[in-house]
Amino acid sequence: MKEVIKVRGGRRLAGTVKVEGAKNSALKLMAATVIGAGCSTIENVPDIADVDIMAQVLTTLGAKVERGDHKLIIDTSALDSYETPYELVAKMRASISILGPLIARYGCAKVAMPGGCQIGSRKLDMHIAGLESLGVQFETSHGFIHASTPNGLHGADFMLEFPSVGATENLMMAGIAAKGETIIDNAAREPEIVDLANMLNAMGACVEGAGSPTIHIEGRNDFHPCVHRTVGDRIEAGTFLVAGALCGDGVTVLGADPKHLNLPIRKLRQMGCEVETGDDGAITIKRHGEIIPADIQTLPFPGFPTDLQAQFMALSAIANGASVITENVFENRFMFASELTRMGADIRLEGHHALIQGVRQLSGAPVASPDLRGGAALVLAGLVAEGETVVSAIEHIDRGYERYVQKLAALGADIERCPAL
Ligand code: UD1
Repeated sequence: MKEVIKVRGGRRLAGTVKVEGAKNSALKLMAATVIGAGCSTIENVPDIADVDIMAQVLTTLGAKVERGDHKLIIDTSALDSYETPYELVAKMRASISILGPLIARYGCAKVAMPGGCQIGSRKLDMHIAGLESLGVQFETSHGFIHASTPNGLHGADFMLEFPSVGATENLMMAGIAAKGETIIDNAAREPEIVDLANMLNAMGACVEGAGSPTIHIEGRNDFHPCVHRTVGDRIEAGTFLVAGALCGDGVTVLGADPKHLNLPIRKLRQMGCEVETGDDGAITIKRHGEIIPADIQTLPFPGFPTDLQAQFMALSAIANGASVITENVFENRFMFASELTRMGADIRLEGHHALIQGVRQLSGAPVASPDLRGGAALVLAGLVAEGETVVSAIEHIDRGYERYVQKLAALGADIERCPAL
């Protein structure tokens, strides 16, 4: 049954909220289990819809996936397929991260062309060019990418045109099984890349430099299963920090590494919030005065994350003045802005810039989640809007946030999930 989230604005939030393991890491760690035949365990896995889809991708390949409390035991010893069907890939773009592991294990793969969030073109050219440099040959037909390695995988020196997260990951996962040395230049530096490299090394790979722009890989041909704990979700943490900035009287976020949130925390301070970080990784946020406008531009890590752009736009919407948000990572990632405008925000879009003139008060309205982060941000806006906001299309939010409504309610929000009319 379809559900909506109803939130009545005006409550102050306080208390502690714990974030889960990172969605964007867990999905790739799950895919990587294919590389080391046997039983791998991944801990700190969020209970979200995208993890269910990746579990189905693995099951389709012949893996056995057992779920415990935030833990997955994935047995990849008896895989009997290297094909990932359209029904699954069309639901989630991250399914494309199965390409690298299948190539590492079988030297071939057949993966449907991805769908997922409608946020820009999200092409695959860098994945393809990078893997081709390792000796992979591609054909596309009937909506599928067919990959093969007639002459085996060999090491290569490849420079990405843009530090794409997904392309860096696929290249790492195939490169570990290539003969000789692979160097990935202009690599993505996100914490999830480091997390994946750590897991690959625990499986017998030799990856150095993850987290820097140059990743060195020494190819190996023997991999084994491992036990790995997923890094904390910096985006979920950033989302609750914005909730704290909007209406918090002291919100503490646990479970993410504050070093992964350097720029968002700096922006929150510039915007008038008091943010303290503890030795245990706790991040506490309070705000006493008005929200001060600040300009933000999204960039690959360690730049400001595109996945927090919509949440910060909700904050800018009630700032005391004008701000500019520039989206540099994805085209067309401002669909959220038009929904926020329906709640009374004053936003003008000029190409990849959003000009936001803060208003005194947002007003509750029926709105629809345009995508995962945009949906989460509409709920945040509802926390400070006058009256009731009803957010529909919340299946987007369920893709990436575990118990979002319960966690906000535990902090004091007046919020509930209800059947859609
Ligand atoms: C991942 C995250 C997503 C996050 C993004 C950027 C997952 C499941 N998703 O997405 O939440 O917003 O990183 O931090 O981890 N591009 C190309 N050609 C390619 C690959 C990418 O042109 O071959 C472009 C995309 O269209 C986009 C930009 O590069 O404009 C960034 O994409 P990328 O870093 O690859 O993001 P994803 O891995 O898809």
